Amino acid sequence: MATWSAPGKVFLFGEHAVVYGKPGVAMAIRPRVSVTVRKSRNPSHARSPYIEECFRSTGVQGSVYIRSQLPSSSGLGSSAAVTAATLAAISDEFGLGFSRDEIARRAHEIERKVQKGRASPTDTYVTTFGGIVLITGDSKRRLPPQNLNLVIGNTLVSHSTAKMVEHVARGRERTPEIVDPILEAIGAVTMRAVKSLNKPQPLGRCMDINHALLDALGVGHPELSKLVLTARAAGAFGAKITGAGGGGCMVALCPKNAKSRVAGAIDATGARSIITTLDTEGIRREKNG
Ligand code: PMV
Repeated sequence: MATWSAPGKVFLFGEHAVVYGKPGVAMAIRPRVSVTVRKSRNPSHARSPYIEECFRSTGVQGSVYIRSQLPSSSGLGSSAAVTAATLAAISDEFGLGFSRDEIARRAHEIERKVQKGRASPTDTYVTTFGGIVLITGDSKRRLPPQNLNLVIGNTLVSHSTAKMVEHVARGRERTPEIVDPILEAIGAVTMRAVKSLNKPQPLGRCMDINHALLDALGVGHPELSKLVLTARAAGAFGAKITGAGGGGCMVALCPKNAKSRVAGAIDATGARSIITTLDTEGIRREKNG
């Protein structure tokens, strides 16, 4: 029996623009997903297509048990975390000797297959390696770790990443002279933010600008706007949509002593808050039990 866990992720900067080769910054966060795999000739039927694909692609049979505090379908990378943790646990239980690179690569392939081609390698890379990652095209670079106090607000409004990506693509076809400069500006904000990662006030301002640009792309939602304004009013340095938008989650950067206040203000609107910070470990072996 082998148990491995993997963290969730947030996009700090650059979502949507990364689809067009601009830089983006994502970060591994708590909470984690944990997966136990046990050799078994009579495997329990996997509940998730991601897990089924992990077993099919490695050609082994086993039973699997998942514990997760990460809400699914909210843009916090739960499918990537489940896939990476399952591959790591399979490799451990069956002695396949996968490296982290191999796990990240296989996890991305599985996401692409299950999501029918619509998966960037961001989630699988970030959950496998942990840390803060700068993504530009195919290149990924881990940035120095920072102690960022984040509060996530989940609107509980369901959304589809594929639809939002499509929405931006259609806008770009219709009015490239407007949409392209917005994507360009998001890239510029991201690069500015990379230089300010250890300065919470300028970093918060970059988040606010990035949020406005995402709104201009048309991936906002009234509930997201409400939570962003709520977080700022409760003392956040800055706040923005995180991930595809149209629902899902926002993220706020907070002074340490304002985290609970921001989280409470988000919860008071009927949304769900998560107080979180950086996870630097990525996939990790856990004690069985
Ligand atoms: O909501 P998420 O975490 O799936 O984020 C999507 C981010 C996009 O840039 C919109 C798409 C992508 O694949 O990078």
